[in-house]
Amino acid sequence: MSVHQSAKRITTQVLAEMKANGEPIAMLTAYDYSMATIVDQAGVDVILVGDSASNVMAGHETTLPITLDHMIYHASSVVRAAKRALVVVDLPFGTYQGNSKEALNSAIRIMKESGAHAVKLEGGHEVKESIERILTAGIPVMGHLGLTPQSIYKFGTYTVRAKEEMEADQLRADTKMLNDIGCFAVVFEKIPAHLAQEASASVACPTIGIGAGSGCDGQVLVLHDMLGITQAFSPRFLRRYLDMGEQMNGAIQQYVKDVRSRDFPNESEQY
Ligand code: KIV
Repeated sequence: MSVHQSAKRITTQVLAEMKANGEPIAMLTAYDYSMATIVDQAGVDVILVGDSASNVMAGHETTLPITLDHMIYHASSVVRAAKRALVVVDLPFGTYQGNSKEALNSAIRIMKESGAHAVKLEGGHEVKESIERILTAGIPVMGHLGLTPQSIYKFGTYTVRAKEEMEADQLRADTKMLNDIGCFAVVFEKIPAHLAQEASASVACPTIGIGAGSGCDGQVLVLHDMLGITQAFSPRFLRRYLDMGEQMNGAIQQYVKDVRSRDFPNESEQY
């Protein structure tokens, strides 16, 4: 039996074993109890309570406005649903950069108040001290390199990162550093597939790609994007598994029609 089939509960150790065994890791985002229940029951290994909640749930243009309190609210709903998956929560913008003590306090609040199993934060050498301090408290950390949406105003665009050799070298060095200091996994977002493959092969910890090709040890997508609930967003890397937005629209239009025509409720739907 494969590692993920025999695991009753996914832990950071199980993910390491999956990489060692060549078993790809499936990760998806979720932000609420109902969706997380479906995601968990479908066999996803890692549920990411991403700060993409800022876009998907709250309608903001970027991930910057979401707060630690918001993330804890979303995370505690997801934790109540997850019976098997490892739940990882994003540290939001402004809660860990440049101050390792604040980073530790933020991570402790997430773990204590939501019951999540790990945190994720964006960046490499710039946030090394923060990661090291969080790790000293026994809190597992997932790194995130390449396109880091919390730095969108520095980048200026959401295009592919690390195409130039200098940035690619920095990514290689940051991947090694994150692995060496003890991160249990690293997300690669929107980087060339050959670079992601090379960096993945160079470290023991699993890498999870989004727009980073098939050479990563696992893949992640934003749930609402892959289900077709968000419709305006369609980057090349996104595979849509459902047109749920369309289907929901049709169902809701039918409901409105049924109410207006007094078809709903019928005899058997009343007391
Ligand atoms: O916030 C998020 O959803 C993420 C994924 C895109 C990796 O960080």
